[in-house]
Amino acid sequence: MNRKQLIKKYIEFFKSKDHKEIPNTSLIPENDPTVLFTTAGMHPLVPYLLGQQHPQGKRLVNVQKCIRTGDINEVGNTTHHTFFEMLGNWSLGDYFKKDAIKFSFEFLTKVLEIPIEKLAVTVFKGDKDAQKDEESAKIWESLGIPKQRIAFLGKEDNWWGPAGKTGPCGPDTEMFYWKSNNKPAPKEFNPEDKNWVEIWNDVLMQYNKDEIGNYNPAKQKNIDTGMGVERTIAVLNNLEDNYLTEIWQPIIKQIEKKSKKSYKGNEKTMRIIADHIKSAVFIIADGIPPGNLEQGYIVRRLIRRAIRHGKNLGLTNFTKKIAKPIFKIYDDYKHLQKNKDKILNELEKEEEKFNQTIEQGIKIFNKLTKNKKSLSGKDAFLLYQSYGFPLEITTELANEKSIKVNEKEFYKKQKIHQQLSKTATEGKFKSGLVDNSESTKKLHTATHLLNQALREVLKKPDIFQKGSNITAERLRFDFNFDRKLTSEEKQAVEDLVNKKIQEKLPIICEHKTFEEAKKEDAQGVFEDKYGANVSVYSIGNFSKEICAGPHVKNTSELGTFKIKKEESSSAGVRRIKAILE
Ligand code: ALA
Repeated sequence: MNRKQLIKKYIEFFKSKDHKEIPNTSLIPENDPTVLFTTAGMHPLVPYLLGQQHPQGKRLVNVQKCIRTGDINEVGNTTHHTFFEMLGNWSLGDYFKKDAIKFSFEFLTKVLEIPIEKLAVTVFKGDKDAQKDEESAKIWESLGIPKQRIAFLGKEDNWWGPAGKTGPCGPDTEMFYWKSNNKPAPKEFNPEDKNWVEIWNDVLMQYNKDEIGNYNPAKQKNIDTGMGVERTIAVLNNLEDNYLTEIWQPIIKQIEKKSKKSYKGNEKTMRIIADHIKSAVFIIADGIPPGNLEQGYIVRRLIRRAIRHGKNLGLTNFTKKIAKPIFKIYDDYKHLQKNKDKILNELEKEEEKFNQTIEQGIKIFNKLTKNKKSLSGKDAFLLYQSYGFPLEITTELANEKSIKVNEKEFYKKQKIHQQLSKTATEGKFKSGLVDNSESTKKLHTATHLLNQALREVLKKPDIFQKGSNITAERLRFDFNFDRKLTSEEKQAVEDLVNKKIQEKLPIICEHKTFEEAKKEDAQGVFEDKYGANVSVYSIGNFSKEICAGPHVKNTSELGTFKIKKEESSSAGVRRIKAILE
């Protein structure tokens, strides 16, 4: 079975169980300042897991592209990737344990035709926060999973979430597949045996973790599941290395061809190069080129690390060539095809840039570490600032020579230079929760007012949102317009937004089909971003937009709107930063 077949079977199976397919959204979370990337299928669903009504209903299914950079150091083994696709089905306060487990079992054994002898499961063993999950174990048994194949494990293994510090979470039950082709699966399940590979996780979301760390029973009990496409494809094809599947082989083959070296003996290096280039391609496709901050800096790090490893294989000017097969493998992602030239161009530019300093940087590194056991944070910072070495390249080079790097001092230096703080990037890119604080809600509503005010003041009804980013402090709004705004225009936009705030307009949310919303002229971003049903937010008679929310109830809650900056974002796109006082 190949990737496309697995995805199709999964979605069709859950559609037959009354689930609605929701779109595979951007890797860059919208209006969520707490996290850099979408890390799981549930991520864009957090407001709905917390009780907001989803326009598609209570049963959802999709495949979601994800980035997890928290695992970056594991990349190089047979199963870890920074970019991966996750299949998921959700119940938002609808079915719970029994049906979730039944659906999983039916899909695994009937649709994928996995023999029961090759399956084992884990369930939560219980602790002070939540009781032992005997119920799930009984359900598995009733379906035919023998007692010896059910293991009870603690929070470290059988608990998922919250995605950030607080939010929905709960015990989970995980499904394992016996992957060895040489040894038959033992009768007794030993979760420590690496031949058992986890392929699916059903999270029984019934708690809400609060700020203090208490697990409170949730108002709404949800099901959140995740099946890794890469792993599942590998095991279904009897492959013990994910990189031997059809979603990696064309890239690996290209590396072999260009380097004239074989995968065998160079597995780790080739896996890192393939993985990092794939992630970079997908992040750039979602609108983030390599840069010095936040997501852009992650793209830079991924590309530069791939280049550094490429050097070990004798590869130069190669990223563009290695990237090409990715567009063929994923020809079902339209945005990838549409942006192909731009993506390849960004890779090439970044490689050219790093080529200017990498040789010199390695020379300096060797000089600084000659006959030494450690490298100071100051020197690591020099390599970072003057030679463009992300810290992990320096630590990797250092590890190869058994040298320690003073990372703490490095981050201190970096913070002082205000390039990028460790907390701003490192902390965020593990995971996070959608920020539904009052201040982001207000700024979100203000963004809709700004969008409409721009259209009216600039007398250009085809102005639309090209990007939006909201933190607790400010909004940032990108829109299509080809010149600088005059100060009079800026003032007029500000005045119009404040007028609408003073008019105390109510904000109303309605659920409609996408077609109905379009007929009513609701503003939207990209058509393929939405499912068949959408939420439409109206602010009085002033603005109407398709949007996931959340918003405040009345514009009177907003205070005073102020534009802080108006600048160019890219060709034909302007950017406004604004606050509420
Ligand atoms: N959200 C769960 C996971 O990522 C399903 O494993």
